[in-house]
Amino acid sequence: MRQIFCGKGRTMDLCRKLKNIVVIILCSSSTLMMCVTCTETDHQPNIVLIMADDLGIGDIGCYGNTTIRTPNIDRLAKEGVMLTHHIAAAPLCTPSRASFMTGRYPIRSGMDNGYRVRVLMFTGCSGGLPKNEITFAKILQKHGYSTGIIGKWHLGVNCETRNDYCHHPLSHGFDYFYGTPFTNAKDCKPGKQSVIFPEFQAIVYLAAEVIFAGLLMLLVLKWTGYICVGWKCIVWFAVFYFLLLGSWHSVFGFLRHWNCLVMRDHHVVQQPSNPETLSTRMTKEALEFIERNQKRPFLLFMSFLHVHTPFFTTKTFVGKSNHGSYGDNVEEMDWHVGQIVNSINNLGLANKTLIYFASDHGGSRDSVGINGEIEGGWNGIYRGKKGHAGWEGGIRVPGIFRWPGHLPSGRKIDEPTSLMDIYPTIIDLAGASLPQDRVIDGRNLMQLLKGDLERSAHEFLFHYCGNALSAVRWHPKGSDAVWKAHLFTPRSEADSGYHMDIDGCHDEAVSHHNPPLLFDLLKDPSEANPLSPVTEPLFHEIHDQIRRGVEQHRETLTSVPLQFSWNNVLWKPWLQPCCGSFPFCGCSEDNIESSKSQEPGK
Ligand SMILES: *[C@@H]1O[C@H](CO)[C@@H](O)[C@H](O)[C@H]1NC(C)=O
Ligand SMILES: *[C@@H]1O[C@H](CO)[C@@H](O)[C@H](O)[C@H]1NC(C)=O
Repeated sequence: MRQIFCGKGRTMDLCRKLKNIVVIILCSSSTLMMCVTCTETDHQPNIVLIMADDLGIGDIGCYGNTTIRTPNIDRLAKEGVMLTHHIAAAPLCTPSRASFMTGRYPIRSGMDNGYRVRVLMFTGCSGGLPKNEITFAKILQKHGYSTGIIGKWHLGVNCETRNDYCHHPLSHGFDYFYGTPFTNAKDCKPGKQSVIFPEFQAIVYLAAEVIFAGLLMLLVLKWTGYICVGWKCIVWFAVFYFLLLGSWHSVFGFLRHWNCLVMRDHHVVQQPSNPETLSTRMTKEALEFIERNQKRPFLLFMSFLHVHTPFFTTKTFVGKSNHGSYGDNVEEMDWHVGQIVNSINNLGLANKTLIYFASDHGGSRDSVGINGEIEGGWNGIYRGKKGHAGWEGGIRVPGIFRWPGHLPSGRKIDEPTSLMDIYPTIIDLAGASLPQDRVIDGRNLMQLLKGDLERSAHEFLFHYCGNALSAVRWHPKGSDAVWKAHLFTPRSEADSGYHMDIDGCHDEAVSHHNPPLLFDLLKDPSEANPLSPVTEPLFHEIHDQIRRGVEQHRETLTSVPLQFSWNNVLWKPWLQPCCGSFPFCGCSEDNIESSKSQEPGK
């Protein structure tokens, strides 16, 4: 047995082709009995993708922040390649993550569709990443990778029943999932509710519901003059009960139970979650995953709950930063990043592991806590923020790659790149090929990262707000320029009265521009001075070219089921992930932990 080792930069495809040729030559001349194989695992690097939630590009030392301490992330940049023009496909969690996972604009999977709601609001809703989407995890899994996701998913769970898991990470190519199918959310912070007797609380709630539903039914029946008899009364009662359960408790009483939960694979292991310890448990899970899989190629997607509000910063970091509770949380996240990188280094996997760090979208600067404290990330010089259509601040994020021995260290790349580029890049590294039956919008970054190519493969990048195209970025071939045209921009929140984070795309929340507002991002990255035919001689030509790009892009769009239709975003009790019997969902991981540890091989 002899193996052909493919040199650096050669893909497995090439390897296989070479192998085939060699096999044909050698094996057809029957004098030689030598067989040649390509062992995928010799060439497939481990992939560790680290994603922060709501982190701004201005929140990190290596991106110019001098007063916050992020030594571990800075070190990744020092030892690797830092992207300064790295763009999220959407300014919001769910659509941005959908396109990250699929390498496609979220509009292609129906994950950004322009209804008032643009993120999933319940774990018990039927929307989510459609089953026919092919994530990078699915492809790497097929090519011998052990695939794990730790942390936030936020791409849906079920479609029709509580256990179909149609949108769940395990249905999208992950062998292992530990984390929250939802996101960190305000409701996850325990209020004054007692955490000692959650079951008792549930009984009290249930009794209250029964009484209220009964009263409501009597009132409505009396008012309409309808008299129910026998089983019809029971049906009517059930209708009122679920109306009440759906509206009242999902909003007030049980939201924490229903959205803040921890799953291991398909099992709910903690409900409601204990967010105080969740991040620590997640990092422990990540380190165990790396250790378990150190002998084979693995993909780990570490999807932090940091630095989304509310903050659950551990004591060690509370009050230590110069930037209040937000800064503490950023510095704590950096520490967690360090834990993961150290574990890779200590296991001797550094040169075999590509590490990527990014944020899912920009920070939400004006997010302010109850005591007036800033709770949102800082987007540096960039205008706009999370949720806002088009402006750079909502979509320009940190992006760092480290892979010693394969990528240069300390290199900075200013070319426009996208979070969607991770998809083709890691699929190629795994020796796999891209799906041929669909449009992939991401571009392989490897040559750019290595310095073999100077230019990004993106000529156009399109920026959506819901299903509406809000801005276009044009990087003309053969020029350094990057132009950006806004078809519409958000009105101020105070002006429009809309909560831009989830509700900022429809006509009343935005101002339309015709001709589109044009900026020269190279000279004016803060998008402060819109160009005019007077200030920019090429004004009309640029608009013509951008229109051409948009037309070509539109031709590639097809209509797909909308994942954020009202029907898909509403809470449906029968889809609610739950441990115990619904609606008495409640369990604590500790019990499950101890029973699990008795299972062999766990
Ligand atoms: C550093 O980050 C903090 C926290 O977001 C922010 O308040 C501060 O303005 C940033 N400083 C610089 C120089 O960017
Ligand atoms: C990893 O790569 C670096 C940079 O090329 C090299 O200096 C180092 O010796 C390599 N380490 C191992 C264990 O191969």
